[in-house]
Amino acid sequence: MIFEHDVVVVGAGLAGLRAAVEVAGHADVALISKVFPTRSHSGAAQGGIAAALGNEEPDSWEWHMFDTVKGSDFLADQDAAEVLARDAPRAVYELEHMGVPFNRNPKGLIAQRAFGGHTGELGRRSIKRACHAADRTGRVIMDTLYHEAVRKGIKVYPEFHLLELIHKEERVEGLAVYDLAQGDVHVFKTRAVVLATGGFGKVYKTTSNCFANTGDGVYLAYKAGVPLQDMEFVQFHPTGIRGLGVLISEAARGEGGVLRNGPGERFMEKYAPTLKDLAPRDMVSRAIAREVREGRGVGGLDYVHLDLTHLGKERLSEKLPEISSFVRIYLGLDPLKDLIPVEPTCHYMMGGIPTDLGGAVLGQSGRIFQGLYAAGECACVSVHGANRLGCNSLLDLVVFGRRTGKRVLEDLPRLEARPLPKGADESVRMGLDRIKERKKGIRPRALQKQMQEIMSACCAVYRNEAGLMEGLDSVRSLLAQLDEVVVENKGGRFNTDLTDCLELEYLLRLAEVILVSAGARKESRGAHFREDFPQRDDLSWLKHTLVQKNDQGPLVSYKPVTITRFQPEARVY
Ligand code: FUM
Repeated sequence: MIFEHDVVVVGAGLAGLRAAVEVAGHADVALISKVFPTRSHSGAAQGGIAAALGNEEPDSWEWHMFDTVKGSDFLADQDAAEVLARDAPRAVYELEHMGVPFNRNPKGLIAQRAFGGHTGELGRRSIKRACHAADRTGRVIMDTLYHEAVRKGIKVYPEFHLLELIHKEERVEGLAVYDLAQGDVHVFKTRAVVLATGGFGKVYKTTSNCFANTGDGVYLAYKAGVPLQDMEFVQFHPTGIRGLGVLISEAARGEGGVLRNGPGERFMEKYAPTLKDLAPRDMVSRAIAREVREGRGVGGLDYVHLDLTHLGKERLSEKLPEISSFVRIYLGLDPLKDLIPVEPTCHYMMGGIPTDLGGAVLGQSGRIFQGLYAAGECACVSVHGANRLGCNSLLDLVVFGRRTGKRVLEDLPRLEARPLPKGADESVRMGLDRIKERKKGIRPRALQKQMQEIMSACCAVYRNEAGLMEGLDSVRSLLAQLDEVVVENKGGRFNTDLTDCLELEYLLRLAEVILVSAGARKESRGAHFREDFPQRDDLSWLKHTLVQKNDQGPLVSYKPVTITRFQPEARVY
């Protein structure tokens, strides 16, 4: 079938929903999502959304901006960080007015709690800036925004899997999608596409990401010629449930929880004397990895403990009910009595599709890719630089989702609908048929598992030249096997065997870009820590990485960082 809408938003997490809600009522907007919208990964966000409301203690947007920039190890574009911090209070009050049930403090104001890297007076002390709804903040914001989308009559196409961006040079014309329920390929003719497809944590073995986070929009933008930015910066959240990767919110430490090594020491005191357990994530994850390497993991093994036993029943049930139940369900432990085994888990991608402050995608040589926009984790605006602070993600999604919706509306009069190229769906349909026709070969999940093992071994919290080169060779040898991937399900409807194959290609190509970017950056900054180049090197490396798809392989170039208010300084916490 051919569908036609002025604007198509791909992805129904918070960024996509917020962009669509902005456009609705002014232009005909459709929302497509490969999962049912309210199953999008934003629903897994737990701890909160940052905004300098000052409800618990004095705060200011300048301090929030400073923390964001310092947290990013000075790689964030400071114009973007300023937009984020300045707009945060408005964004949170807007959500409150839409109906988000934030926790309240005794004064009846939105309650705020401490989070990693959130400080008062430019780093002097930890500060309470995270607005939250217990530890289900993403879930309640998503439900509220979805309700808003339904109220505004936005046309939703659930379980439509993005297959291709249809474009002529740097001008979008439409999309090809795979309709999971019907097992058919459809095309959308449209004037503007907003990519809000989230991250790609499934590149790694241990991750807090859901199965759907396979980088679809990011890879397809790359394939369409968009260079990808800062892909070496992969965030590992310090407290994933050991062996599973399931997130135990940083809010647990914001509420007073502490990390302990095998001998029971509160080791963060030694790595970050001021903020301790509430240092930024890159530092805490590295500290855990170091404790483990030096033999101070629990029982000499590869994990440490999160201690919540002193928080008390009331606090756990009022502020941390979700993670308390995860601990009971997944581990069979009682967080009131037992220490929780945790390890760093791949959580968030700082890199992605480069955009300007309005979400317009920057194609080759920084030119605007006409009609293409991106917001949320798939985008790199770049507000998080080399390391994102907790609670700045939900904020990024709603602030830049809204800005992207506004920008689309501004641009629409200039973006005429173009006739779709003849047989726009034919080549993708044939590609799917080719996979189905293969009689024998390798199963997609087997290759995916190998890729995840490689990435976790070579390109996680610690990296070095030999490991990155070995990882790149191994990922390339998996890429060479893509043509041998076979599906057992030859049917049409709900053929997730087939979509696994598509997702495998997206992930493998992005893994290659991560490794190339990480191999090229010969310094340590934020989440990218090179054992062979352990220092940050502002003279040579205070710049963004760009990787362009090329017939000869990914091509690396760089562009400057925007610095406005804060000059780089030592990152001591
Ligand atoms: O720890 C957390 O609750 C995660 C928050 C975030 O990634 O912003």
